[in-house]
Amino acid sequence: MPLEADAPERFPEHFPWTRRHLLGLEDLGKGEILVILDAAETLIESSERRGKKRSNLSGKVVVNLFFEPSTRTRTSFGLAARRLCADVLDFTPSSSSLSKGETFIDTAKNIEAMGIDLMVVRHASSGAPHLLADHLQCGVINAGDGAHEHPTQGLLDIFTIRQRKGRIQGLTVGLVGDIAHSRVARSNIHGLLKLGAKVIVCGPPTLVPRAIMELGVEVSHNLDEIMPRCDVINMLRIQFERQRNGLFPSIQEYARLFGMDASRLANAKSDLLLLAPGPINRGVEITPEVADGPHSAILQQVTNGLAIRMAVLYLLCGQPPQV
Ligand code: CP
Repeated sequence: MPLEADAPERFPEHFPWTRRHLLGLEDLGKGEILVILDAAETLIESSERRGKKRSNLSGKVVVNLFFEPSTRTRTSFGLAARRLCADVLDFTPSSSSLSKGETFIDTAKNIEAMGIDLMVVRHASSGAPHLLADHLQCGVINAGDGAHEHPTQGLLDIFTIRQRKGRIQGLTVGLVGDIAHSRVARSNIHGLLKLGAKVIVCGPPTLVPRAIMELGVEVSHNLDEIMPRCDVINMLRIQFERQRNGLFPSIQEYARLFGMDASRLANAKSDLLLLAPGPINRGVEITPEVADGPHSAILQQVTNGLAIRMAVLYLLCGQPPQV
């Protein structure tokens, strides 16, 4: 596989970065978020060119530890690491010695003992990546922990907004749906507020915790009222797997009040940008015609996720280009 000329004049080798882990956007300053976005900007071309690799993670080993299902995040981290010439391991919990009683931390420590530079961790428990960061020497990336944070999803959402709108400052962004169980909502809120956006969270009262207001967001339970005010709307998935029963009367009722369809879109700004982190429940949070329509950047988000993850991997443990 040919190595791309490392184009040092465009590569973020001089970008300041001191952290070993990426655990959440709550921890990062505005400057650090901008460094990641700018690094991803310089990598977007490499991320989209098949058959070209950069050597910045040559000799490094990245392991995916996913204790929950994933399509986008897992494959995107794997591809991003390979595009930077890292070795990539995929750990599958169901066929591991966890089933013999080995603990989470012992499992991670044994994998690290094989010479790992970065662990990419998804877990149903909030704080699981932070626990590993406390016990391991290698870098840890949070790929989604319970209902807490999903920082690379937040970053790729913000990157997509900046790419389409040219700015974050001054935009009004609606986060619609299951706020209570959404790690994507929390990472978006922390990142967007730090970059100067106004954030409105909107959903049924049972899916919007009152404490969310303390983060500095506006709360609404009326999607039709906020539609004309938003520059961007991010349609969050109902996290059925994290819910107790009975948080709203029926899926049909939810879709009628909080789903995005063509008639609701008619009340939006003409240049409304529509995002969804995926996976989407078509016909529930968003109708197929809207998900695949001109306002939607859903697949562009997935494409951008590769550049964001290349940037994060590079900043946490990459080598500057050799000149
Ligand atoms: N958006 C997201 O995290 O998707 P996956 O669960 O497929 O990784």
